Amino acid sequence: EKGSYDHYMLKEIHEQPVALRQTLHGRIDGDDVALEEFPPGSFDDVDRVQFVACGTSYHAALYGEWLLSKDGVDATTYIASEYAASPAPVDEDTLVVGVTQSGETADTLEALESARERGARTLALTNVIGSTAARTCDDALFIRAGPEIGVAATKTFSSQVATLVLLAERLVRDITGSPTSDHADRLDALASLPEHVESITTDSRAADISQRCLGDNGHFFIGRGNAFPVALEGALKFKEITYGHAEGFAAGELKHGPLALVTPETPVIAIGTGHDEARLKSNVTESRTRGAPVIAIAPRTASDLADVAEEFLPVPATHPDLVAILANVQLQLIAYHAANAMERSIDKPRNLAKSVTVE
Ligand code: F6R
Repeated sequence: EKGSYDHYMLKEIHEQPVALRQTLHGRIDGDDVALEEFPPGSFDDVDRVQFVACGTSYHAALYGEWLLSKDGVDATTYIASEYAASPAPVDEDTLVVGVTQSGETADTLEALESARERGARTLALTNVIGSTAARTCDDALFIRAGPEIGVAATKTFSSQVATLVLLAERLVRDITGSPTSDHADRLDALASLPEHVESITTDSRAADISQRCLGDNGHFFIGRGNAFPVALEGALKFKEITYGHAEGFAAGELKHGPLALVTPETPVIAIGTGHDEARLKSNVTESRTRGAPVIAIAPRTASDLADVAEEFLPVPATHPDLVAILANVQLQLIAYHAANAMERSIDKPRNLAKSVTVE
Protein backbone atom coordinates (compact mmCIF):
# COMPACT_ATOMS: atom_id res chain seq x y z
CA GLU A 1 0.00 0.00 0.00
CA LYS A 2 1.13 3.53 -0.79
CA GLY A 3 -0.12 4.84 2.57
CA SER A 4 0.27 8.59 2.75
CA TYR A 5 2.50 8.76 -0.35
CA ASP A 6 1.16 9.86 -3.74
CA HIS A 7 3.26 7.29 -5.56
CA TYR A 8 5.01 4.02 -4.86
CA MET A 9 8.19 5.56 -6.20
CA LEU A 10 8.22 8.23 -3.48
CA LYS A 11 7.33 5.63 -0.84
CA GLU A 12 10.18 3.42 -2.02
CA ILE A 13 12.64 6.34 -2.04
CA HIS A 14 11.68 6.97 1.58
CA GLU A 15 11.92 3.29 2.43
CA GLN A 16 15.61 3.20 1.59
CA PRO A 17 16.91 3.53 5.17
CA VAL A 18 14.79 0.52 6.19
CA ALA A 19 15.70 -1.43 3.05
CA LEU A 20 19.40 -0.76 3.61
CA ARG A 21 19.18 -1.85 7.23
CA GLN A 22 17.72 -5.16 6.02
CA THR A 23 20.40 -5.44 3.34
CA LEU A 24 23.21 -4.95 5.85
CA HIS A 25 21.69 -6.76 8.83
CA GLY A 26 24.22 -9.17 10.35
CA ARG A 27 26.56 -8.84 7.38
CA ILE A 28 29.19 -6.50 8.84
CA ASP A 29 31.36 -8.08 11.50
CA GLY A 30 33.89 -5.60 12.87
CA ASP A 31 36.35 -4.94 10.08
CA ASP A 32 35.23 -7.89 7.94
CA VAL A 33 32.02 -8.96 6.25
CA ALA A 34 29.88 -11.92 7.24
CA LEU A 35 28.02 -13.18 4.18
CA GLU A 36 25.96 -16.18 5.24
CA GLU A 37 26.56 -18.33 2.14
CA PHE A 38 30.08 -17.11 1.51
CA PRO A 39 32.57 -17.67 4.34
CA PRO A 40 36.21 -16.64 3.80
CA GLY A 41 37.73 -18.71 1.01
CA SER A 42 34.48 -19.10 -0.94
CA PHE A 43 36.03 -17.42 -3.96
CA ASP A 44 39.62 -18.67 -3.64
CA ASP A 45 39.50 -20.20 -7.12
CA VAL A 46 38.13 -17.12 -8.87
CA ASP A 47 40.57 -15.09 -10.92
CA ARG A 48 38.24 -12.68 -12.71
CA VAL A 49 34.72 -11.34 -12.44
CA GLN A 50 32.25 -10.48 -15.19
CA PHE A 51 29.03 -8.65 -14.39
CA VAL A 52 25.98 -8.99 -16.65
CA ALA A 53 22.93 -6.79 -16.15
CA CYS A 54 20.41 -4.41 -17.74
CA GLY A 55 19.24 -0.87 -17.02
CA THR A 56 19.53 0.28 -13.44
CA SER A 57 21.09 -3.04 -12.45
CA TYR A 58 23.75 -2.46 -15.11
CA HIS A 59 24.62 0.81 -13.40
CA ALA A 60 24.87 -0.96 -10.02
CA ALA A 61 27.12 -3.53 -11.68
CA LEU A 62 29.40 -0.77 -13.05
CA TYR A 63 29.70 0.50 -9.49
CA GLY A 64 30.67 -3.03 -8.41
CA GLU A 65 33.28 -3.20 -11.18
CA TRP A 66 34.76 0.08 -9.97
CA LEU A 67 34.98 -1.25 -6.40
CA LEU A 68 36.73 -4.45 -7.49
CA SER A 69 39.09 -2.85 -9.99
CA LYS A 70 40.42 -0.29 -7.52
CA ASP A 71 41.53 -3.14 -5.27
CA GLY A 72 43.19 -5.19 -7.97
CA VAL A 73 40.49 -7.63 -9.07
CA ASP A 74 40.01 -8.13 -12.82
CA ALA A 75 36.38 -7.12 -13.33
CA THR A 76 34.32 -6.11 -16.37
CA THR A 77 30.66 -5.21 -16.79
CA TYR A 78 28.59 -6.19 -19.80
CA ILE A 79 25.14 -5.15 -20.96
CA ALA A 80 23.38 -8.50 -20.72
CA SER A 81 21.75 -8.37 -24.17
CA GLU A 82 25.14 -7.70 -25.76
CA TYR A 83 26.84 -10.42 -23.74
CA ALA A 84 24.17 -12.90 -24.76
CA ALA A 85 24.84 -12.14 -28.43
CA SER A 86 28.66 -11.91 -28.28
CA PRO A 87 29.85 -13.38 -25.00
CA ALA A 88 33.26 -12.63 -23.51
CA PRO A 89 35.63 -15.57 -23.00
CA VAL A 90 35.24 -17.42 -19.69
CA ASP A 91 36.79 -20.40 -17.97
CA GLU A 92 36.08 -22.26 -14.73
CA ASP A 93 37.89 -19.56 -12.75
CA THR A 94 35.58 -16.84 -14.07
CA LEU A 95 32.78 -15.72 -11.77
CA VAL A 96 29.86 -14.29 -13.76
CA VAL A 97 27.58 -12.21 -11.54
CA GLY A 98 24.08 -11.48 -12.82
CA VAL A 99 22.80 -8.33 -11.13
CA THR A 100 19.01 -8.45 -11.43
CA GLN A 101 16.42 -7.07 -9.04
CA SER A 102 13.63 -9.31 -10.29
CA GLY A 103 15.78 -12.30 -11.15
CA GLU A 104 13.55 -12.72 -14.21
CA THR A 105 15.03 -10.38 -16.84
CA ALA A 106 15.28 -12.47 -20.00
CA ASP A 107 18.46 -10.82 -21.32
CA THR A 108 20.27 -11.34 -18.02
CA LEU A 109 19.10 -14.95 -17.73
CA GLU A 110 20.31 -15.62 -21.26
CA ALA A 111 23.73 -14.09 -20.53
CA LEU A 112 24.03 -16.21 -17.37
CA GLU A 113 23.02 -19.31 -19.30
CA SER A 114 25.69 -18.63 -21.90
CA ALA A 115 28.31 -18.26 -19.16
CA ARG A 116 27.19 -21.45 -17.42
CA GLU A 117 27.22 -23.50 -20.63
CA ARG A 118 30.79 -22.44 -21.26
CA GLY A 119 31.92 -23.54 -17.79
CA ALA A 120 31.93 -20.32 -15.74
CA ARG A 121 30.72 -20.16 -12.15
CA THR A 122 27.55 -18.06 -11.85
CA LEU A 123 26.14 -15.97 -9.04
CA ALA A 124 22.78 -14.19 -8.95
CA LEU A 125 22.69 -10.92 -7.02
CA THR A 126 18.94 -10.45 -6.73
CA ASN A 127 16.05 -9.23 -4.62
CA VAL A 128 13.75 -12.17 -5.22
CA ILE A 129 14.17 -15.47 -3.43
CA GLY A 130 12.99 -18.29 -5.67
CA SER A 131 13.47 -16.22 -8.85
CA THR A 132 14.76 -17.94 -11.96
CA ALA A 133 18.20 -16.33 -11.58
CA ALA A 134 18.44 -17.41 -7.94
CA ARG A 135 17.42 -20.97 -8.82
CA THR A 136 19.56 -21.47 -11.89
CA CYS A 137 22.85 -19.88 -10.81
CA ASP A 138 25.45 -21.79 -8.82
CA ASP A 139 25.08 -19.27 -5.99
CA ALA A 140 22.75 -16.47 -4.96
CA LEU A 141 23.25 -13.38 -2.83
CA PHE A 142 20.07 -11.56 -1.84
CA ILE A 143 19.84 -7.80 -1.56
CA ARG A 144 16.87 -8.02 0.87
CA ALA A 145 15.37 -4.65 -0.16
CA GLY A 146 11.75 -5.86 0.10
CA PRO A 147 9.22 -5.73 -2.75
CA GLU A 148 9.51 -2.83 -5.19
CA ILE A 149 6.32 -1.82 -7.02
CA GLY A 150 7.26 1.39 -8.86
CA VAL A 151 8.58 0.62 -12.34
CA ALA A 152 11.51 2.97 -11.73
CA ALA A 153 13.99 1.09 -9.55
CA THR A 154 15.05 3.16 -6.52
CA LYS A 155 15.58 1.34 -3.24
CA THR A 156 16.79 -1.75 -5.04
CA PHE A 157 19.63 0.20 -6.67
CA SER A 158 20.85 1.39 -3.25
CA SER A 159 20.58 -2.12 -1.84
CA GLN A 160 22.33 -3.62 -4.87
CA VAL A 161 25.28 -1.28 -4.47
CA ALA A 162 25.45 -1.84 -0.69
CA THR A 163 25.46 -5.60 -1.33
CA LEU A 164 28.19 -5.15 -3.93
CA VAL A 165 30.32 -3.33 -1.33
CA LEU A 166 29.94 -6.40 0.91
CA LEU A 167 30.62 -8.84 -1.92
CA ALA A 168 33.62 -6.81 -3.09
CA GLU A 169 35.18 -7.14 0.36
CA ARG A 170 34.85 -10.95 0.25
CA LEU A 171 36.05 -11.19 -3.36
CA VAL A 172 39.04 -8.90 -2.88
CA ARG A 173 40.15 -10.80 0.24
CA ASP A 174 39.74 -14.21 -1.38
CA ILE A 175 41.27 -13.29 -4.73
CA THR A 176 44.15 -11.00 -3.69
CA GLY A 177 44.76 -12.33 -0.17
CA SER A 178 44.43 -8.84 1.39
CA PRO A 179 41.46 -6.79 2.56
CA THR A 180 40.35 -3.78 0.54
CA SER A 181 42.30 -0.61 1.14
CA ASP A 182 40.63 1.33 3.92
CA HIS A 183 38.31 -1.58 4.70
CA ALA A 184 37.66 -0.68 8.33
CA ASP A 185 36.65 2.91 7.50
CA ARG A 186 34.61 1.86 4.52
CA LEU A 187 32.67 -0.79 6.44
CA ASP A 188 32.04 1.72 9.23
CA ALA A 189 30.68 4.13 6.65
CA LEU A 190 28.57 1.35 5.13
CA ALA A 191 27.02 0.67 8.53
CA SER A 192 26.07 4.36 8.70
CA LEU A 193 24.60 4.44 5.19
CA PRO A 194 20.96 3.97 6.33
CA GLU A 195 21.12 7.02 8.61
CA HIS A 196 22.93 9.07 5.98
CA VAL A 197 20.23 8.24 3.44
CA GLU A 198 17.59 9.09 6.03
CA SER A 199 19.05 12.55 6.52
CA ILE A 200 18.47 13.15 2.79
CA THR A 201 14.98 11.66 2.58
CA THR A 202 13.87 13.74 5.58
CA ASP A 203 15.50 16.99 4.49
CA SER A 204 16.32 17.73 0.85
CA ARG A 205 15.93 20.77 -1.38
CA ALA A 206 15.61 18.45 -4.39
CA ALA A 207 11.92 19.34 -4.87
CA ASP A 208 12.78 23.05 -5.32
CA ILE A 209 15.81 22.37 -7.46
CA SER A 210 13.88 19.98 -9.72
CA GLN A 211 11.84 22.96 -10.89
CA ARG A 212 14.91 24.07 -12.82
CA CYS A 213 14.71 20.86 -14.85
CA LEU A 214 11.30 21.12 -16.49
CA GLY A 215 10.94 21.01 -20.24
CA ASP A 216 14.51 21.81 -21.24
CA ASN A 217 16.22 20.56 -24.41
CA GLY A 218 18.39 18.15 -22.55
CA HIS A 219 19.69 17.29 -19.10
CA PHE A 220 23.26 16.13 -18.68
CA PHE A 221 24.50 14.17 -15.69
CA ILE A 222 28.26 14.03 -15.19
CA GLY A 223 30.55 12.32 -12.72
CA ARG A 224 33.91 10.59 -12.41
CA GLY A 225 34.88 7.33 -10.74
CA ASN A 226 32.02 5.87 -8.73
CA ALA A 227 29.94 8.93 -9.61
CA PHE A 228 30.02 7.93 -13.30
CA PRO A 229 27.60 4.97 -12.98
CA VAL A 230 25.44 7.21 -10.80
CA ALA A 231 25.43 9.86 -13.54
CA LEU A 232 24.14 7.17 -15.92
CA GLU A 233 21.56 6.11 -13.37
CA GLY A 234 20.45 9.69 -12.68
CA ALA A 235 19.88 10.22 -16.40
CA LEU A 236 17.99 6.92 -16.81
CA LYS A 237 15.68 7.70 -13.89
CA PHE A 238 15.09 11.21 -15.18
CA LYS A 239 14.25 10.13 -18.74
CA GLU A 240 12.04 7.21 -17.79
CA ILE A 241 9.68 9.17 -15.56
CA THR A 242 9.82 12.75 -16.88
CA TYR A 243 10.14 11.78 -20.62
CA GLY A 244 12.68 14.61 -20.86
CA HIS A 245 15.87 13.96 -22.76
CA ALA A 246 18.68 13.09 -20.36
CA GLU A 247 22.14 11.63 -20.79
CA GLY A 248 24.84 10.58 -18.38
CA PHE A 249 28.52 11.01 -19.18
CA ALA A 250 31.87 10.36 -17.64
CA ALA A 251 32.73 14.01 -16.90
CA GLY A 252 35.99 13.71 -18.82
CA GLU A 253 34.04 12.90 -21.99
CA LEU A 254 32.23 16.23 -21.99
CA LYS A 255 34.87 17.95 -24.08
CA HIS A 256 35.02 15.01 -26.52
CA GLY A 257 31.62 15.79 -27.99
CA PRO A 258 28.68 16.46 -25.67
CA LEU A 259 29.91 19.98 -24.86
CA ALA A 260 28.60 20.95 -28.32
CA LEU A 261 25.09 20.50 -26.89
CA VAL A 262 25.61 22.52 -23.72
CA THR A 263 23.65 25.80 -23.77
CA PRO A 264 21.58 27.89 -21.33
CA GLU A 265 18.74 25.41 -22.08
CA THR A 266 20.57 22.30 -20.86
CA PRO A 267 20.87 21.91 -17.10
CA VAL A 268 24.03 20.03 -16.12
CA ILE A 269 23.95 17.99 -12.94
CA ALA A 270 27.47 17.37 -11.63
CA ILE A 271 28.08 14.67 -9.03
CA GLY A 272 31.16 15.07 -6.85
CA THR A 273 32.50 12.67 -4.25
CA GLY A 274 34.45 15.29 -2.32
CA HIS A 275 37.61 13.50 -3.42
CA ASP A 276 39.92 14.60 -6.19
CA GLU A 277 37.44 17.11 -7.56
CA ALA A 278 39.67 19.58 -9.41
CA ARG A 279 38.85 18.10 -12.82
CA LEU A 280 35.14 17.90 -12.17
CA LYS A 281 35.29 21.50 -11.03
CA SER A 282 36.76 22.51 -14.38
CA ASN A 283 33.98 20.59 -16.18
CA VAL A 284 31.47 22.57 -14.15
CA THR A 285 33.18 25.81 -15.13
CA GLU A 286 33.23 24.76 -18.83
CA SER A 287 29.48 24.21 -18.63
CA ARG A 288 28.80 27.49 -16.82
CA THR A 289 30.85 29.34 -19.45
CA ARG A 290 28.35 28.07 -22.05
CA GLY A 291 25.53 29.42 -19.93
CA ALA A 292 24.25 26.09 -18.60
CA PRO A 293 22.61 26.08 -15.20
CA VAL A 294 24.75 23.69 -13.13
CA ILE A 295 23.44 21.83 -10.13
CA ALA A 296 26.21 20.19 -8.09
CA ILE A 297 25.65 17.35 -5.64
CA ALA A 298 28.49 16.53 -3.27
CA PRO A 299 29.40 16.30 0.43
CA ARG A 300 28.77 19.58 2.20
CA THR A 301 32.13 19.81 3.91
CA ALA A 302 34.56 18.11 1.56
CA SER A 303 33.60 19.77 -1.72
CA ASP A 304 34.28 23.12 -3.30
CA LEU A 305 31.89 22.53 -6.18
CA ALA A 306 29.45 24.74 -4.30
CA ASP A 307 31.64 27.72 -5.24
CA VAL A 308 31.35 27.17 -8.98
CA ALA A 309 27.87 25.65 -9.43
CA GLU A 310 24.71 27.67 -9.59
CA GLU A 311 22.88 25.38 -7.18
CA PHE A 312 24.33 23.02 -4.62
CA LEU A 313 22.61 20.00 -3.09
CA PRO A 314 24.65 18.57 -0.23
CA VAL A 315 24.91 14.98 0.92
CA PRO A 316 26.36 13.86 4.27
CA ALA A 317 30.13 13.46 4.42
CA THR A 318 31.08 9.81 4.34
CA HIS A 319 33.70 7.51 2.83
CA PRO A 320 34.32 8.70 -0.77
CA ASP A 321 33.59 5.19 -2.10
CA LEU A 322 30.01 5.50 -0.84
CA VAL A 323 29.18 9.16 -1.50
CA ALA A 324 27.73 8.43 -4.93
CA ILE A 325 25.05 6.20 -3.36
CA LEU A 326 23.91 9.24 -1.38
CA ALA A 327 24.10 11.54 -4.40
CA ASN A 328 21.89 9.05 -6.24
CA VAL A 329 19.15 9.54 -3.64
CA GLN A 330 19.14 13.27 -4.45
CA LEU A 331 18.92 12.38 -8.16
CA GLN A 332 15.95 10.08 -7.49
CA LEU A 333 14.22 12.98 -5.73
CA ILE A 334 14.99 15.42 -8.55
CA ALA A 335 13.55 13.01 -11.14
CA TYR A 336 10.51 12.29 -8.98
CA HIS A 337 9.64 15.93 -8.25
CA ALA A 338 10.25 17.04 -11.85
CA ALA A 339 7.98 14.23 -13.12
CA ASN A 340 5.37 15.07 -10.50
CA ALA A 341 5.36 18.73 -11.52
CA MET A 342 4.81 17.58 -15.11
CA GLU A 343 2.01 15.24 -13.96
CA ARG A 344 3.61 12.16 -15.45
CA SER A 345 2.47 8.61 -14.77
CA ILE A 346 5.27 8.07 -12.29
CA ASP A 347 4.65 4.52 -11.13
CA LYS A 348 3.86 3.23 -14.61
CA PRO A 349 5.79 5.22 -17.20
CA ARG A 350 4.60 4.80 -20.78
CA ASN A 351 6.00 1.83 -22.72
CA LEU A 352 7.82 0.32 -19.72
CA ALA A 353 7.22 -2.81 -17.63
CA LYS A 354 8.62 -3.69 -14.23
CA SER A 355 9.99 -7.01 -15.32
CA VAL A 356 11.21 -7.47 -18.87
CA THR A 357 10.77 -11.14 -19.59
CA VAL A 358 11.22 -10.92 -23.35
CA GLU A 359 14.57 -10.60 -25.12
C1 F6R B 1 14.87 1.30 -14.44
C2 F6R B 1 14.61 -0.12 -14.30
C3 F6R B 1 15.12 -1.06 -15.35
C4 F6R B 1 15.61 -2.37 -14.71
C5 F6R B 1 16.02 -3.38 -15.78
C6 F6R B 1 16.60 -4.64 -15.18
O1 F6R B 1 14.35 2.05 -13.39
O2 F6R B 1 14.00 -0.53 -13.33
O3 F6R B 1 16.13 -0.47 -16.11
O4 F6R B 1 16.69 -2.06 -13.88
O5 F6R B 1 14.89 -3.71 -16.57
O6 F6R B 1 15.70 -5.26 -14.30
P1 F6R B 1 16.20 -6.34 -13.25
O7 F6R B 1 17.08 -5.65 -12.26
O8 F6R B 1 14.95 -6.89 -12.64
O9 F6R B 1 16.96 -7.39 -14.02
